Amino acid sequence: MNFNDFETKSAQDILQWAGNRFKRIALASSFGLEDMVLIDMISKLNVEIAIFTLDTGRLHEETYETMERVRVKYGLNVRSYFPDKDRVECLTREKGFYSFRESLENRKECCHVRKVEPLNRALAELDAWVTGLRRDQSSTRTDTPKVHEDADHPPLIKINPLADWSLERVMDYVEKNKTPVNPLHKKNYPSIGCAPCTRPVLPGEDVRAGRWWWENPEHKECGLHRPR
Ligand code: ADX
Ligand code: SF4
Repeated sequence: MNFNDFETKSAQDILQWAGNRFKRIALASSFGLEDMVLIDMISKLNVEIAIFTLDTGRLHEETYETMERVRVKYGLNVRSYFPDKDRVECLTREKGFYSFRESLENRKECCHVRKVEPLNRALAELDAWVTGLRRDQSSTRTDTPKVHEDADHPPLIKINPLADWSLERVMDYVEKNKTPVNPLHKKNYPSIGCAPCTRPVLPGEDVRAGRWWWENPEHKECGLHRPR
C-alpha cells in the first residue's frame, strides 16, 4: 500500500491497519488530549497496540494521576522509560537543576538526556510507533503525514492518525466519549510537557505558546519529532 493512500482514511481505520500489520507497535503517550483520544480508540478496537511513556522525572503531578487513571480505566500496562541515571546525575551535578533555562543548547541537552535517549531505547524494541502529532499544532508540524517511513529512526514506520484533526475535533471526541483527560487542560494548559518548561496560555495565544515559552516558535521541538 502506498502510504499516501492513508491520507483519506479515518484514525480508527489507520489504527486497525497498523495493529494488524505490525507485531511490535506502540503508542508514545504523554497523556495529553490527543494521546487520550488515541488510547480511547485503541481500547475500543480489536488491536494490540502497546503504550509507552517517557518519564522525564520532571512531569506534573497531574500527569502521573492521568497515567494512573488510564491504567485503571482501560486496564492497560503503561511502559515507562526513564532517563539514564548516570547521565541525569552528571547533568544536574555539573549544571544544576534548571540548566535548560540558560541557553537553547542546555535546553536541548536536557531534552536529549531526559526524552530523546529514552525514546531511542523504546523504539529499539519496535517496528512501528504511533503518535498524537497534529499538523496545526505548530509551524514545525504542518507537513506531518498520517503514515510514513521514519527517517530519524529507520526502519521504523511512524503513524500519526490525528495528523489532520483540529483541536476542536479532539475536544469534541473527548467530550462525546467521556475520555479522561489531564486536569491541567482546564487550567489553560492545552499542551503539556515537563512542569518547569510548561506554563498556561493566555487567551488568544497559540496552543504551544506555553511550552518553552522563553524560546522562538521555530525552536520549540525537543528532538522527539524533527520537523520534516
Ligand atoms: S513535544 O515533542 O513537544 O514534547 P508534544 O507534547 O506536542 O511533543 O506531543 C506530541 C506527541 O509526542 C504526543 O502525542 C506523543 O505521541 C509524543 N510524546 C510527547 N511527549 C511524550 C512523552 N513524555 N512520552 C511519550 N510520548 C510523548
Ligand atoms: Fe528538560 Fe524541560 Fe526538556 Fe523536560 S522539557 S526534558 S525539563 S528541558
